[in-house]
Amino acid sequence: MHADGSVPVLAIDGPSGSGKGTISRLIAARLGWHLLDSGALYRAVAYAASTGGVDLADHDAVGRCAAHARIAFRDPGDGGETRVLVDGADASGEIRTETCGAAASAIAAIPAVRAALLDKQRRFRRPPGLVADGRDMGTVIFPDARPKVFLTASATERARRRYKQLKDKGLVITLDDLLREIEARDRRDAERAVAPLKPASDATVIDTTGMPVEAVVAKILALLPGH
Ligand code: DC
Repeated sequence: MHADGSVPVLAIDGPSGSGKGTISRLIAARLGWHLLDSGALYRAVAYAASTGGVDLADHDAVGRCAAHARIAFRDPGDGGETRVLVDGADASGEIRTETCGAAASAIAAIPAVRAALLDKQRRFRRPPGLVADGRDMGTVIFPDARPKVFLTASATERARRRYKQLKDKGLVITLDDLLREIEARDRRDAERAVAPLKPASDATVIDTTGMPVEAVVAKILALLPGH
């Protein structure tokens, strides 16, 4: 807890494949803090809309879906991956596909969707602290987060990392397709009018190309007061 009684937030933003997910999870576990995987919320909304037969081009309908979908995170308690429940059903596998990622990136540009997820995200801020992983954690959702970190890596390296992750999960995609998908997603996320992907003016930018995970974790922990 900060001296003024507020709960500390460490914001970790960056593009897909920058290592945010792995690094945020490790740091949250190391500090014993809560973790917000905000990308999973956008993915869950895209999934809820698709399975509910909502046309993703119908912004009002997707906005309503974002406001009403019941999205919950469950820790399996055995050290396994957090499960994501959408309206009571386990959608953890389905939301991780590239198709769902691309749909999430598309619906994330709808202002009503971002507005509907604002409070849901802020409610994750509970003692003793929060590691918030996303695109606009430091710029929009938690502007008072300290420190703010923006992770980057070359598109080729990010595609290689995603390729490995997806292959480990048994999903079939070529490296070339993935690179094209990542570049398209970067463009969409950076060019949208609301909360575009960009480092906060007071963020520390870390290029993780060629950096081992542990080195990135150590660099971020060194930015935290008292660590
Ligand atoms: O981090 P991710 O790949 O799981 O996120 C999926 C999409 O969700 C991403 O392409 C853009 C969107 N997103 C967002 O707009 N804002 C966030 N804070 C997190 C994700």
